[in-house]
Amino acid sequence: MCGIFGYLGKRKAVPILVEGIKNLEYRGYDSAGMAVASDKGRVISAKAVGPVVYLEKKIKKNRLFNGDLMAGLVHSRWATHGGVTEKNAHPHTDCSKNIWLAHNGIIENYSELKSDLISKGHKFKSQTDTEVIAHLIEEAKKKNSLVLEEAVRVTLKSIKGTYGLVIFDKREPGKLVIARNFSPLVLGLGKDELFVASDATPIAPHTKRLVYLKDGEMAVLKKGGYKIFNLDKKEINRRHLDIDWSYEQAQKGNFPDFTLKEIFEQPIALENSCRGRIDLKNKKTVLGGLAGLENELLKIRRLIIVGSGTAHHAGMLGKIFVEELAGFPVVTDIASEWHYRRPVFQKGDAFLVISQSGETADTLAALRGAKKKKILTLGITNVIGSTLARETNAGVYQHIGPEIGVAATKSFVSQSAILLQMAIFFGKQRGLSDAAAYKILRTFRNLPKLVQKILDKSEDIKAVAEKYKDSRDFLFLGRKYNCPVAYEGALKLKEISYVHAEGLPTGELKHGPIAMIDKDFPSFFIMPKDSVYDKNFSNVQEIKARRGPVLALTTEGNEDLKGLADDVIYVPEVPEILYPFLAVIPLQLFAYFSAVLRGQNVDKPRNLAKSVTVE
Ligand code: G6P
Repeated sequence: MCGIFGYLGKRKAVPILVEGIKNLEYRGYDSAGMAVASDKGRVISAKAVGPVVYLEKKIKKNRLFNGDLMAGLVHSRWATHGGVTEKNAHPHTDCSKNIWLAHNGIIENYSELKSDLISKGHKFKSQTDTEVIAHLIEEAKKKNSLVLEEAVRVTLKSIKGTYGLVIFDKREPGKLVIARNFSPLVLGLGKDELFVASDATPIAPHTKRLVYLKDGEMAVLKKGGYKIFNLDKKEINRRHLDIDWSYEQAQKGNFPDFTLKEIFEQPIALENSCRGRIDLKNKKTVLGGLAGLENELLKIRRLIIVGSGTAHHAGMLGKIFVEELAGFPVVTDIASEWHYRRPVFQKGDAFLVISQSGETADTLAALRGAKKKKILTLGITNVIGSTLARETNAGVYQHIGPEIGVAATKSFVSQSAILLQMAIFFGKQRGLSDAAAYKILRTFRNLPKLVQKILDKSEDIKAVAEKYKDSRDFLFLGRKYNCPVAYEGALKLKEISYVHAEGLPTGELKHGPIAMIDKDFPSFFIMPKDSVYDKNFSNVQEIKARRGPVLALTTEGNEDLKGLADDVIYVPEVPEILYPFLAVIPLQLFAYFSAVLRGQNVDKPRNLAKSVTVE
C-alpha cells in the first residue's frame, strides 16, 4: 500500500529510483512522483497520474534529470486522503520547497494540524494528510533552527497515525532521514550506498543485506553510513539480515505477467514450503521454526487463526486440518473483525497469524491485541524479518520467493501446506497414528507433480473461461475441505476480473442464495469424489432443476457429472484432505483467463494494493 524507494550513494539516483519503483508498483499504482537532489542542493521533481511508466516518460523528456543527482526518493501511491491527482501524488514539500518527502500510512490528526498550520500562514497545495508533515518540519526548523533529523523528531512527536517516511532537505545535501510507525520500511546496505524501501523487492538487485526499522524508530542516512534512533534519541544497534531470494525471482521471465508466473510457480512453491519438513521415514513433520516450543505447543487447548483476504482463507482450511488431525478446537476470523471485537481469551489459547507480506495492518493489529494478553503467538509469513516475523513468539516461513501479483496465488498453497504440516505436528503430539500421518504425507510429497499436471492442461480452463466470459455473477460452492477453496475461487474472480462472485458452503445454497439462480447465473461446484460428494451431487441437481448453468470440478475418472453439469474440470485423485491443494489451481486459472479475456490488468487490479498497510 504505497511504495517508497530512496537512494543515497555514488551513482546517479534517477535510473536506480525508476527501476526500483517499478519493482514496487504492486503496492500502489494510481500515481507516482520523484524528487532528486544534487550534492549542491539542487532539486528536480516530477509527478504523474497513472502507472509509473507515465512518470518515467516525463523524466526521460526532462534533461535536468540527467544531472549528477546522487540522492532522492520516489513514491507510487494508493490514494487514501485526496483524489487521484498530480497535486496529491507524492513527494510533498513545504512552502519553501526545501523539504521533500514520501509517506506511506495515514496521519489521523492531520486536519487539526493543518488548520493550525494554515493559521500560521502555511499554504497547502494538496488535499493529502501527508503534506502536513512537510509543513510541520518546516515550522520546527524555522522556530528552533534545527537540523533535519531533529525537526523530524519534533514533528513525529506531534502526529498521530501510521507512517513510513523518507525525507530530505535540500539545504542539507547528502542526507536522508527515514522513520517508521506501523508502515514497513527496510534499509539496504550496499557498498558505499544506501537504499530504503517499503519492502525488499527494489533493493534485491543491489544488495542482500537488509536492516528492518521497527515502529517508533527513525534513521539518519549519510554518505558515510547510517544511524538508527528511537524518538527519544537513543541510538539502536541492529545487525543486518540476509534475504534468501534473488532478483531474478522478482522478474516475469517468459510469462506475460507476474500472476500467471506465480500460478505456474506453485509446484516449486509447494516444494519450498515443505523442504526438509517432511520426515516420511518417521511419519512426522519437522518444523524448525517451532523447535524448542514443544511443551508449550502441547498445552494448546484452542487455536485462534486470523488473517486477511487469501491468508484468512488459508486459515479457514487450517482450522479443518487441525481439528481433524489434532482434535482440539480452532476458531478462525478475519483479522480486522477480530481486532475490533472484545477478544475473549482463555487458558491454553494460542494465536496464529498468517500474512504473506507480514505487514498487513489489520493482521498486525490483531496480533498486537493478543500479545497484550500474553497469549502464545505464532506466525506464518513469506517475508523474512517482516513485522509479523519479528513480533510473533515463533513461526514458519513460506520460502516461496516474492509474490508480486496483487492477487495471492502461490501464497495460498504455501500457507495451506504449512498449516497441514502444523496440523500433523500437533496431531502427532496428541496421538495421531503413524499410519494416518503416513497416508497423508506420502501423497502430500507428490503434490508438486500433481499440481503440474493440472497446470499442463491450463488451455482447457481457458476454453471454459472463454465460454463464461460474459457472465456477470458467479457462485463458488464447496463443502468441508473445499469450502475455503470456494471462498478463495470467488475472491480471485472478484479481484482480477471484477466479476461479482460469492463463495459459499454448498449447504447454505438452499437457505437463500438459490433464489438468485436462473439461466444467466452460473454456479461453480468444487466437488471431488470425497465424503461429501453425494450431498454436492444433489445440490447440482437442484441448480439444474432451476436452469442454472453448472461448472463442476471433480476427480478424474468420475463420469457422474457428464450430461448433468455444463462443464466439468478434472483433478487427480488424492486423499480427501489434499483436494484443496489441487482444486484451487483451476479456480485461479479460471479467474486469470476471465480477467485476460475481459482485458483487465491482472497484476494490478484497480483499487487494490498488494500489501495493505493501513486499517
Ligand atoms: C491484500 C491483497 C490480498 C491478500 C491480503 C492479505 O488485500 O489484495 O490478495 O490476500 O492483502 O495479504 P497478506 O500479505 O497479509 O497475506
